[in-house]
Amino acid sequence: MIPVHVSVMPTQVMDYLVPQVDSPLIVDGTLGEGGHSSRFLEAYPKARVIGIDADSVMAGRASERLVSWGNRFQAKIGWTDEVLQTWTEDAPDIILMDLGISIYHYEGRGRGFSFRSDEPLDMRLGDQDQSAADLVNTLPEQELADVIYKYGEERFSRRIARRIVEERRGNPFEDAARLAAVVATAYPAKARHGRLHAATRTFQALRIAVNGELDRLESLLKTAPQLLAPGGRLGIISFHSLEDRIVKHAFRGMDKRFGGQFEVLTRKPLVPDEEECRQNPPSRSAKFRVIEKPLEFSS
Ligand SMILES: C[S@@+](CC[C@H](N)C(=O)[O-])C[C@H]1O[C@@H](n2cnc3c(N)ncnc32)[C@H](O)[C@@H]1O
Repeated sequence: MIPVHVSVMPTQVMDYLVPQVDSPLIVDGTLGEGGHSSRFLEAYPKARVIGIDADSVMAGRASERLVSWGNRFQAKIGWTDEVLQTWTEDAPDIILMDLGISIYHYEGRGRGFSFRSDEPLDMRLGDQDQSAADLVNTLPEQELADVIYKYGEERFSRRIARRIVEERRGNPFEDAARLAAVVATAYPAKARHGRLHAATRTFQALRIAVNGELDRLESLLKTAPQLLAPGGRLGIISFHSLEDRIVKHAFRGMDKRFGGQFEVLTRKPLVPDEEECRQNPPSRSAKFRVIEKPLEFSS
């Protein structure tokens, strides 16, 4: 298996997510193609890594990549917040979340994550009922505009929603390329030639909505810190300002300085350096925050 995805902030992840025990259990809650998992397996010869991914294709790719680690690596398919709610393994010493989707998803894999390809407009990572096409074809105009504004931070959300609703009458959207073309026509001509394609933010918004990504993050933040072993660390890499805000507030609520018991190890979020942004442009918007559970934790 030749990985397509380049892991984000690998050095900071290894510098901050340091287990305090000799034989740690590490949970990679967004396994993808297993880039971060492989680094943990290599760095800690007695570590066991459990990787979780909602997408069975990714769990399969990672399992293929990491097969040589034998039973030190195990993949689970599922939404990590749900898997952690019914956790029966030992308490994890490290939990890593590297949110969003992988480059593998973008590069034309048949589910419409990329607006550049002629694929069904699906965007589901897991087994949920509603696809992106369902949302685009059925949401009332106002709700569609709200989704695009909130999750895409798209200033032309209202014009885009109006255009989509006009175009879907009698001819529902089925593929990604047509939606991208329609979104582009809703953009004012002057704004159409920026750094990002006109459809980038709308596609991001639909993906976040289809997979309930923000609700899942909130739910994970309620479970993961408690589940950690004493001295354990939770690290979250986010790519969206709303995600980072959710993480920041949740961590602050648990921080010692605010009456909690955890220690926030990153007062400000860590970000990739210039070299990484140049070599791996998707890393540009990454923000990494880490908390540590105290060795003596009273629940
Ligand atoms: C950015 S990629 C991870 C890349 C990985 N860290 C690496 O270095 O190869 C995110 C992966 O997590 C999965 N994913 C995103 N959110 C998830 C969640 N809440 N639960 C389970 N899997 C999730 C996606 O399907 C995707 O494969």
